[in-house]
Amino acid sequence: EKGEYRHFMQKEIHEQVRSLTDTLAGRVDFDEGQIRLPQLNLTPDLARRIQKIIITACGTAAHAGMVGKVLIERIARIPVEVDIASEFRYRDPIVDQNTVVLAISQSGETADTLAAMDEGRKRGAVLWSIVNAIGSQAMRIADGYISMQTGPEIGVASTKAFTAPLVDLYMLAVLLADLRGVLDSTRRKQLVSDLRLIPDLVGRCLDRENEIIPVAREMKYIRNMLYLGRGINMPIAYEGALKLKEISYIHAEAYPAGEMKHGPIALVDRDMPVLAIAPQDPWYEKMISQIEQAKTRGGSVIVVATEGDTRVPELADHVFWVPPTPWLLSPVVTVIPLQLFAYHIASLRGLDVDQPRNLAKSVTVE
Ligand code: M6R
Repeated sequence: EKGEYRHFMQKEIHEQVRSLTDTLAGRVDFDEGQIRLPQLNLTPDLARRIQKIIITACGTAAHAGMVGKVLIERIARIPVEVDIASEFRYRDPIVDQNTVVLAISQSGETADTLAAMDEGRKRGAVLWSIVNAIGSQAMRIADGYISMQTGPEIGVASTKAFTAPLVDLYMLAVLLADLRGVLDSTRRKQLVSDLRLIPDLVGRCLDRENEIIPVAREMKYIRNMLYLGRGINMPIAYEGALKLKEISYIHAEAYPAGEMKHGPIALVDRDMPVLAIAPQDPWYEKMISQIEQAKTRGGSVIVVATEGDTRVPELADHVFWVPPTPWLLSPVVTVIPLQLFAYHIASLRGLDVDQPRNLAKSVTVE
């Protein structure tokens, strides 16, 4: 039931404080600074044997996988590829028994993702999945899995089933790093204790919903929008753009911000608003210069920035504030204002937010 909310999507956006609390429950031992993911069946021997992880998924789940690549490479130092599931098996992929194929799927029934898992199995890979729907195919056929503890997601636009796997991938990265002996205990304890902050930080983003609504109102009739991000927040540009296009039918494109000068900056003028994701992460300075360039070309600029930032307000037309967050977890907070922004635009346009045209919740055909 939707309760006090107008749409399931809005309810599910607001459920993220709870779903992220549940994501941590039973997995994180804050006293010992340890992660426990028993259903993954990850032994120290397997952890040391892995030479490559291929994350395969579709849509929003693939965007979570792109963040996972940064997390696993940074924390566990294992090479990670992210492969759109519908591409993976038609490319004669290089996979062997020291490769993990890790599928991410809310429904656990997406045909392309299941086919990619089958392809990994045929080639002898270890198969893992991060899945929401209990008992789904992607859970059953895996050698090990992490279940998203989000509860059913009804809205076609995925929200709480995006942030949960971000935290799952972070926990996986810490666990892999620990078992491979690449993490000293001080750093491990720091990484683990940072997780404790997440539900509250997400709650603080949700408390700012009323600051986003007037911006959505001002922008509800735009025709195009460009989303820019870098590093760990580059996938959040893709995710923000997907949210906007799938429920509001506004054309939105995402780019790694550094690519702008290689072509897309030609698009920027007064009719091309830019949304830039620029929290205090290692790419912050680079993002500031991208924002300056977009601004001088006339577009109106919205920036997702960290509370207390004094440079962004001088450049931006609008700021979506997020609380200070350890940068490896920052995508979990930066995506929240983008979910709310897309939601309010679609809702103000009077669209069927939970059942957008041409889309199904679970894509069970190829
Ligand atoms: O159930 P899955 O996670 O496998 O679904 C994958 C995509 O179809 C899904 O994330 C889709 O992109 C959503 N509508 C995005 O909001």
